[in-house]
Amino acid sequence: MTTTARLELDGKVYELPVIVGSEGDKAVDITKLRDLSGYITLDPSYANTGSCLSEITFIDGEKGILRYRGIPIQEMAEKSTFIETAYHIIFGHLPTRAELSEFSDLLTKYELLHEDMKYHFEGFPTTGHPMAILSAMINATSCFFPDLARSTRREDLKVQAAVLLAQVRTIAAFAYRRSRGLPTIYPNPMYKFTANFLHMLFSLPNKDYEMHPEIVKALDLIFLLHADHEQNCSTATVRMVASGQANVFACAAAGVCALWGPLHGGANQAVIEMLEDIRQSGDDGSNFLKLVKDKNSGKRLMGFGHRVYKNYDPRANIIKRQCDELLSVLRKDDPLLDIAKRLEEAALNDPYFVERKLYPNVDFYSGIIMRAIGLPPEMFTVIFAIGRMPGWIANYREILESPTPRIYRPRQIYTGKTLNHYVDKIQRSSVPVQ
Ligand code: ACO
Repeated sequence: MTTTARLELDGKVYELPVIVGSEGDKAVDITKLRDLSGYITLDPSYANTGSCLSEITFIDGEKGILRYRGIPIQEMAEKSTFIETAYHIIFGHLPTRAELSEFSDLLTKYELLHEDMKYHFEGFPTTGHPMAILSAMINATSCFFPDLARSTRREDLKVQAAVLLAQVRTIAAFAYRRSRGLPTIYPNPMYKFTANFLHMLFSLPNKDYEMHPEIVKALDLIFLLHADHEQNCSTATVRMVASGQANVFACAAAGVCALWGPLHGGANQAVIEMLEDIRQSGDDGSNFLKLVKDKNSGKRLMGFGHRVYKNYDPRANIIKRQCDELLSVLRKDDPLLDIAKRLEEAALNDPYFVERKLYPNVDFYSGIIMRAIGLPPEMFTVIFAIGRMPGWIANYREILESPTPRIYRPRQIYTGKTLNHYVDKIQRSSVPVQ
């Protein structure tokens, strides 16, 4: 295999190193290109840009492969739990029993929010989107752990990770309760991570939520399947913010903001809204598919397509199975599931989607599970954010521990006015509007 690439510019030849990853990914290293030649590369939306070397997650989008630190997502989904997966992603190995128990104890230790945080919740309107509350409150958490937030010591990472994972879950539950005008329910150390979250969401002061093992399993699986996904929009944002040496809470809050948009984590909410619109209009899905193929309609088939997967998103397969299983155990019918399945079948047989290699992504069926659990659509992306927290922390850690730390700072090709002089106010009325 070639070890250098040759690039000819203005009659000069430059030799650029070729980097090969452990799974055979190849890249031309252009780090020195501008210094040598005066040229930069242009790659709007970064579809061809490797921004880092990373040991966390491997994706082969053509083959539909996803692995967390080498372990296939299917194995993790079948055998692991969200917290064990989180440990594996953040610290680089599956925990021993002792490590897992120590980490679980830390999660319990930090599950309560500082009482003063309650006043912050009261300041938000009850109609406030929980993603706004989540990002604001994660940032606020740094004020209650100032030393921990500032620390870049490796030995503090375990506590930072536990604080973030535990507090984010409590914040998310409190935000939900506030939006419903319900009293807050404190975490109960008797429960494990996901069951505790359900307890905080759905228990009442006078009546405990009836814990259904299938629901706990389904929600834990959703967290696990979202735990990391290499350099997606929110994770790349986290790395960008971390490269400026912002603290881990600020990085996670930035990740939440980046995740919110409907082309990224907000797609799970958008899928359910789309399916609901189709249902209410009485369409069997075919009119909507026509609309989606018309570029002027501004519509997309939400939950379909992916920058990296040009094959079935392996997470979507697992989620679809879990969705069928949960609805059958709960003996629930959801008309939106039927619409989703019809849409999927029609799309997978439609040349528009086939030619563009558009398949269901993780968001296509996850919303139907969350609806069955009783979560409102505005909480779906919050669930995604809780799940993605381990990936953000692990990527933050890679930036922190990089042997060659350097602030992320892309360049641009300027296309604005060339040199243009200041005009005094008095003369501006005579300046033609451009
Ligand atoms: N519905 C209809 N057409 C689509 C869709 C879709 N969901 N996705 C892509 N296309 C079309 C585009 O219009 C484009 O067509 P063209 O070549 O005729 O111009 C072609 O497929 C390629 O699409 P791009 O926009 O270039 O793909 P990109 O990699 O930039 O976008 C994205 C990926 C944002 C996920 C896109 O597929 C999309 O908008 N999907 C719907 C939103 C969604 O589900 N997002 C969640 C992604 S997964 C996640 O973040 C967890």
